[in-house]
Amino acid sequence: MVNRSGIALFASLGLLATVSARAESYKEPYRPAFHYTPAVNWMNDPNGLIFADGFFQMFYQYNPVGTVAENQAWGHARGRDLLHWTELPVAIPAVRNAAGQYTDLIFSGSAVQDRQNSSGLGDGRRAPLVAVYANNYLADQTLPNGQHVVAGQQGVSIASSTDGGISWSNYAGNPVIAVPPAPYADQAGAFRDPKVFWYAPGHEWVMVAALSNIHRVILYASDNLKDWRFLSTFGPANAVFGAWECPDLFPLRPQGGGAEKWVLMVGINPGAEYAGSGTQYFVGEFDGKSFTADPDSVHATTPPAGAEIFQDFSSGQSYAALGWTGTGAFAGASPAAETIPGSVTGHVIDSFLTGDSAVGTLLSPAFTIDKPFIDFQIGGGSWPRDPATAGTASDKEATVNLLVDGRVVHSTTGNGLGAMSWRSWDVSGLRGRKAWIEVIDANDGAQGFGHIFVGDILFSDTPQLEANWLDHGPDFYATVTFNDLPESARTAVGWMNNWNYGQVIPTSPWRGQMAIPRSLSLRNTDGRLALVQNPVETLPLLHGALLERSVGNMALDAEHPTRTLDRISGRQLDISADFVPGGADTFGLHVRSGANGERTEIGYSPRTRTLFVDRTRSGDASFSSGFKGRFEAPLAPDRDGHVRIRVLVDTSSVEVFGGDGAAAITAQIFPSAGSVGVDAFAENGSAVLHAIDAWAMRDIH
Ligand code: FRU
Repeated sequence: MVNRSGIALFASLGLLATVSARAESYKEPYRPAFHYTPAVNWMNDPNGLIFADGFFQMFYQYNPVGTVAENQAWGHARGRDLLHWTELPVAIPAVRNAAGQYTDLIFSGSAVQDRQNSSGLGDGRRAPLVAVYANNYLADQTLPNGQHVVAGQQGVSIASSTDGGISWSNYAGNPVIAVPPAPYADQAGAFRDPKVFWYAPGHEWVMVAALSNIHRVILYASDNLKDWRFLSTFGPANAVFGAWECPDLFPLRPQGGGAEKWVLMVGINPGAEYAGSGTQYFVGEFDGKSFTADPDSVHATTPPAGAEIFQDFSSGQSYAALGWTGTGAFAGASPAAETIPGSVTGHVIDSFLTGDSAVGTLLSPAFTIDKPFIDFQIGGGSWPRDPATAGTASDKEATVNLLVDGRVVHSTTGNGLGAMSWRSWDVSGLRGRKAWIEVIDANDGAQGFGHIFVGDILFSDTPQLEANWLDHGPDFYATVTFNDLPESARTAVGWMNNWNYGQVIPTSPWRGQMAIPRSLSLRNTDGRLALVQNPVETLPLLHGALLERSVGNMALDAEHPTRTLDRISGRQLDISADFVPGGADTFGLHVRSGANGERTEIGYSPRTRTLFVDRTRSGDASFSSGFKGRFEAPLAPDRDGHVRIRVLVDTSSVEVFGGDGAAAITAQIFPSAGSVGVDAFAENGSAVLHAIDAWAMRDIH
C-alpha cells in the first residue's frame, strides 16, 4: 500500500541531482550505481538520520583513513530525495591527544533538531542540530571538564551544529551520560548507540540506547539533551546470542487503521538468522516511560504449545536404537548429552562426534507430514548446502534437511554460534507426504567450526520463531529511521553489510554501502502486526529506460524450465515480477547471470511458502568462507494466489521484496561485470510468469 502523505512530502521536495564532492571515478569494479557509498574508505552504520532544512541528512560511521573499521568518525552526506547524495567532509571527527593518537572514537548515534533551543546550544538564529552519539574511549584520561573515563568505556555525548550539520562543536560537559545507572553500571563498556526523538505527549526528549552485552535497551528522558533521567529497560527477549546494537523506537499506525503502536528495532551481532549481523524488532506500546512488547511479538524459548515431538533424544539411546541410520562418523553413534546455551534438551544431535573433522550423515525414519510446521533448535557452524556440490567430494555443508520424494525441500545450517536458536520450516503445502529428516556433516572443520547440533524435532500448528527479523538476508544491519519526517513516512536506512565478512569484501577504494531507504508500515499478517517495508516512494526518480512491461503469461515448464528475458539485462535494474504458481517446486528469476552458470537466484517455493535468495553461484565469494548461502523468508502468496517479487539489482547487491513488502531479503553479491542476464525459471514442474516490469536504473553519480 502506498503511503500518501509520504508521497506528498517527497514530491514537494523536488529532485536535485547532485555531484559528489570528491573526484573518484565511481566506475571501479563492484561500485554500486544507485546505492550510497562514500568515495573512499570504510563506512558502517547510518547515524544521525534527520530531515532538516530541506535536506535528508545522513551521517555514518566512517574511517577517514582506511577501508577497515577503525578510527570511527561521523561521515556525512546529504540530499533532497533519499537517492542522490552529496558527500561532505567528515562531520564529527574522532578525538586525538596532543601526540595525535586517537583517544575517543565517535560511535553510532542520532540527531535531533532542537527547535526550542532546549539545549541552549543554538546561536539565537536557527534551531541547532544536536547529535547524540556513543563515545568509545580508547585510553584512561581526565577530560578537560574534570570527568575521568577509562579505556574501553562507552557512554553518551552530544555535539551541536548551527550551520545545517556541516560543522559541529562537542559539548564541553561531555559525556552527558558516563555510565548507565545501577544495577547496570558494570555495563559501561557496552553502552552505546543512543537514538533520541521528541516525545510530544510528554514534552520531552526520549533516548533509547543499547546495553549490548546484556541484551537490553535502556530508556532515558531529558528536557535539555544534557541532563538525562533513567526511565526503564527492555529485554532480554527473542534473539540474544550476540550484542544488541543500534536500537530505534518509533510510533507507527497499522495499515487500514487501528490504534498507534510503537516499534522497537534492535540490531544483533553475531546472533542473526544467517550468522553474523541482523535486525530484529518488537511491536508494542510505549507510555512515555517503558516499552512493553505485545505478547505475540515475544517468542517463547520453550516448545510451542501442543507440539508433538517427532524425535526426543533425551533418552540418550543410540541413533540406531531410535531407528535412525548413520553413515561415516554417525555410524554406531548416539545423541550427545550437552549443555548448550539456548538448548531446551539435554541430548542433541551433535556432528562433532570423533572431532571437528568428523563427517557423516544421519537419516531419520520416514514419517508422514500432518502438521504445518516442523521446528527444532540448531547451532554450530554455518555451512549451507550448495546443490551444485551436494554429495560430491567438494561438499562442505553441515545441514539439517527435509527430504520429500528424494528431494531436499528445506535445508538449514548452523547459526555460526556455540548456542542454539529456533528454526521453523513451513510444510503446510506438503501435508500427507512421506518425508525424512537428514543431517549431513560434510565439513572437515579445516576452515573452523565444522559441526552442527540439532535439538528435539517437533511438529506444530504454529511456527516456533526465534525473533521478528526485519530482513531475512545477511546484509541489512544497524537499521535506523529518520527523525523529523511525518509518522506516515517512517523511513529506514540499513547498512548493507555484515560484520562476519564486512571488512574483507572485495571493494576498493571504499568498503560499505547503504541499502535503498525503505518506507516502513505495520500490517496485520497471520493475525499479528508485522513490519512491512518497500523501497522509498521516490525510487522511480531513478528509473531510466523501461526495458519490459508485461510478458503476457509466459509458461515455464518441463519444456522451458528456463527462459532468457532478452529485453531485460543489466547491472542496475528495478524488476517487478508477478508469478502464478503451477506444480513447480520453485520458480523465480536469475539475475546477474553470465558465463559458467554464474547467477543470483531469487525465487519462491510454494510448498514451503518461502521466498529465497541464493548467492552460492553469484560470483566472487573467495574472500570469506562464510559468504555463500541461501536465505529464506516466510511469505504467503497474495490473496489472488499470485506471488509478486520486486528486485533491486545493483553492481554488488540484490534487495528483494515479496508480497508488497511483507518479506525482504537483502544480500551483497560480487558478480563479473559481464554477468548481466536475467531469466525466469521453474524447477520440477510448471509456473507462469504472468507479468514483469523492468526498468534500467540510473547512476546516481
Ligand atoms: C554496529 C556498531 C555499533 C557501534 C558502531 C561502531 O555496527 O558496532 O554498536 O556504535 O558499530 O562503528
